[in-house]
Amino acid sequence: ATAPVQADWPALLRDVADFPRPGILFKDITPLLADAHGFAAAIATLAAPWRAAPPHAVVGIESRGFILGAALAQALGVGFVPVRKPGKLPGPTLALDYALEYGSDRLEMHVDALPAGAPVLLVDDVLATGGTLQAAVALLQQQGAHVVAASVLIELSALSARQRWDAQVPLLAGLVI
Ligand code: PRP
Ligand code: MG
Repeated sequence: ATAPVQADWPALLRDVADFPRPGILFKDITPLLADAHGFAAAIATLAAPWRAAPPHAVVGIESRGFILGAALAQALGVGFVPVRKPGKLPGPTLALDYALEYGSDRLEMHVDALPAGAPVLLVDDVLATGGTLQAAVALLQQQGAHVVAASVLIELSALSARQRWDAQVPLLAGLVI
C-alpha cells in the first residue's frame, strides 16, 4: 500500500527567527522530516520529473542534502553519491574551494564515485546564495559527470540565486518562497 500523500508539505516547514545569526529567518525542515506523509510528499515532489527517465545516481550535499538525497535516490531506484565537507571521505578525493561572504569553504567527493559522463541529479535542501550548489555543480563537472539538473526543496527567492545561476544546468525547486 502506498502512503497517503500529505500534499501540503510546505506547511510542515518551521520558521526560526535569528538563527544561525541575528537577522536570519531559518527554514527548519526537521518537522517535515518527522512527518512520514509530509516527508514522502516532499520526496515525491522532487522525484516527479525523473520517474520516466531516472539519472544514473542522485548526488547529495552534506549535511541536509544527504537526508533528502538518500530518500530521493531510493524513490528513483538509483544509487546515492555524497559530496562532503573536508576530510570526511576515506578514499582519493577531488576538491573544490568556494568563496563565502566571509572566508571560504570546500566540498569533496571520491574521484571514483561516478563513471565518466554519468548523468546525475544534484540535490540539496535550500538554495540561499547558491554558492554551495554552484560549487557542487562545478565539482561534478570537473569529475566528468553530466549534471542533468540541480534540485532543491526550497528556493529562497529574496537572495536572487536564480538570477546568477549557470543556465547550462537546469535549476529546479520544490517550493519557491
Ligand atoms: C545550508 C543549506 C545549503 C546551503 C545553502 O547548508 O543546507 O546546503 O547552506 O546556502 P547557500 O545557497 O548560500 O550556499 P549548511 O552548510 O549551512 O548546513 P548543513 O550542514 O546543515 O547542510
Ligand atoms: Mg547544507
